[in-house]
Amino acid sequence: GVAEAGFDGAHLVRAVVVDDLRALNAAARADGVHLAVQSGYRSEAYQARVHEGWRAALGAERAALVSARPGHSEHQLGSTADLSTTRERRRAVRNTDPVHTWLVENAPRFGWRQTYLADNTEQTGYIEEPWHWRYMGIPKTDG
Ligand code: DAL
Ligand code: ZN
Repeated sequence: GVAEAGFDGAHLVRAVVVDDLRALNAAARADGVHLAVQSGYRSEAYQARVHEGWRAALGAERAALVSARPGHSEHQLGSTADLSTTRERRRAVRNTDPVHTWLVENAPRFGWRQTYLADNTEQTGYIEEPWHWRYMGIPKTDG
C-alpha cells in the first residue's frame, strides 16, 4: 500500500510502483512539497460506486467527462494515484498549485505521468485532471 511509500492512509497500489512512489515522495519532501494520496487502487465494484455517485451528482453526460465507467478506470490497474496537497485538507492537486508545477517538473523522472491534460481531452474523453498520476516506469537511457 501507499504506507510503504511513506504516505498516510490505507490506499493500495501495486508492489511494482512502491519504490518509485517512495522516491517521488522523498524528493518532494526534500523540496518542501507535501503530497498525499487520496485514491489508489479501486476494484471494479468500487469504481462502479464512484461512477454512480458522479452520475447522481452531475448526470450521465457530465459524469462521463470526469469519471470512468467500471472496467475503464486506470485506478483499477493499481498503478495510478490521485494526489492531494495534504491529507488533512483532502483537496486534489490543481494546475495552479506549486505542488503541480513540482510534479510536472519532477514526477516523470520517477516514472509518474499525468494522464489527463488540458490538451488531450479530445483523445482521452476526460477533462484535465492535475491530480491523477499514473506510473509508466522510468525510460531506459542505455539504448
Ligand atoms: N477520473 C478518472 C477518469 C477515473 O475515473 O478513472
Ligand atoms: Zn484518478
